[in-house]
Amino acid sequence: MSTSILVTGGAGYIGSHTVLELLSAGYEVTVVDNFCNSHPEALNRIEHLSGRSLRRIEADVRDTSALVNALRISNASAVIHFAGLKAVGESVLQPQRYYDNNVVGSLRLLEAMAQCEVKTLVFSSSATVYGSPLSLPYREDHPLAPTSPYGHSKSMVEQVMRDTVASDAACRFATLRYFNPVGAHSSGLIGEDPQGVPNNLLPFVAQVAIGKREHLNIWGADYDTPDGTGVRDYIHVVDLALAHLRALDALAIPPSKTGKGQYLALNIGTGKGYSVLEVLAAFREASGMPIPSRIQARRPGDIASYYADPAKAKTHLGWVATRSLVEMCADTWRWQKGNPDGYQQR
Ligand code: NAD
Ligand code: UD1
Repeated sequence: MSTSILVTGGAGYIGSHTVLELLSAGYEVTVVDNFCNSHPEALNRIEHLSGRSLRRIEADVRDTSALVNALRISNASAVIHFAGLKAVGESVLQPQRYYDNNVVGSLRLLEAMAQCEVKTLVFSSSATVYGSPLSLPYREDHPLAPTSPYGHSKSMVEQVMRDTVASDAACRFATLRYFNPVGAHSSGLIGEDPQGVPNNLLPFVAQVAIGKREHLNIWGADYDTPDGTGVRDYIHVVDLALAHLRALDALAIPPSKTGKGQYLALNIGTGKGYSVLEVLAAFREASGMPIPSRIQARRPGDIASYYADPAKAKTHLGWVATRSLVEMCADTWRWQKGNPDGYQQR
């Protein structure tokens, strides 16, 4: 019998790419999603691409009994927890909504897992837990000093996970700190479908390329970086998805005899930073589109530069990112061109 995995938020951007990889690798998958920031059409496309079916349960992760039911009917042996709200600016305006969804949602999930004796969890964290860099690249032992309610919600869940592992030697938890996920599946059938004006660089650039927006605003060209624009560690979403499968493999290795549970906190990035101008050049190359841009003042709250030290993920998961910046741009462009209005029917 194949292994069954419960995926919360599996219809979203990163979740959908991970569910596709899980199905392709032979796992049984049950998705729990309330579709507050996604469309069920993503799940139809995953089934089409994988040639396999998945179980879908429309429910909120804050609903413990729905989660218990989902764990029981799926007979899941592990959970990958993507469900959460992710807009940093919105979290500043609506902090309680973010803590409720992200922190309470995770607590309810842990409660349901405890009731069903499910001990393996992979959690979506973010590089934003580090705050302003004291040193670069960020290593996992860099102090955690988030600067937004969103970032705090992630570091709080990390703390709860650490404490849970300390209290229960059977627990095997991994928290993956994503850097900047971009790109789409190479089929062009699933990708990122932002609602409204995108905040993030790649979705905005793609919308300029397709003619939905007039030009890209470059938020600051006077940073202390090689060309003055902000530098980030962009990671292809399929590389990121595969890190979750490697995390499941690593957590499946039987617990040591130390009597302690396992808790892994890992950076998931490429280790290489690219500037806004470098991304723009790569996107122009990949798409053949001109992409007008204008230099503007810095965006409040932005950091000049950050990127990962991904060595720990290599050691513990045997995982490294392999897809290049040009592939990230080419795949984003294929998705954008084929789906100018995303999953549309929203
Ligand atoms: P997304 O919004 O595309 O996906 C999140 C999914 O969770 C959506 O399908 C949404 O409908 C669902 N969801 C949200 N709240 C829910 C709830 N209470 N109950 C059930 N379903 C719920 O986001 P994404 O980019 O795929 O991000 C996935 C995870 O990774 C999030 O936890 C996010 O904070 C984290 N993360 C994302 C990024 C990024 O840049 N995309 C970076 C670092 C970390
Ligand atoms: C943002 C989030 C971070 C999240 C990450 C996910 C904030 C403060 N941080 O980070 O928590 O994990 O997204 O991908 O919101 N840029 C432009 N013009 C644009 C958009 C962006 O010049 O229209 C520049 C930014 O100034 C930055 C770079 O592009 O230098 C990347 O920006 P963005 O994609 O928003 O990501 P982050 O700022 O790293």
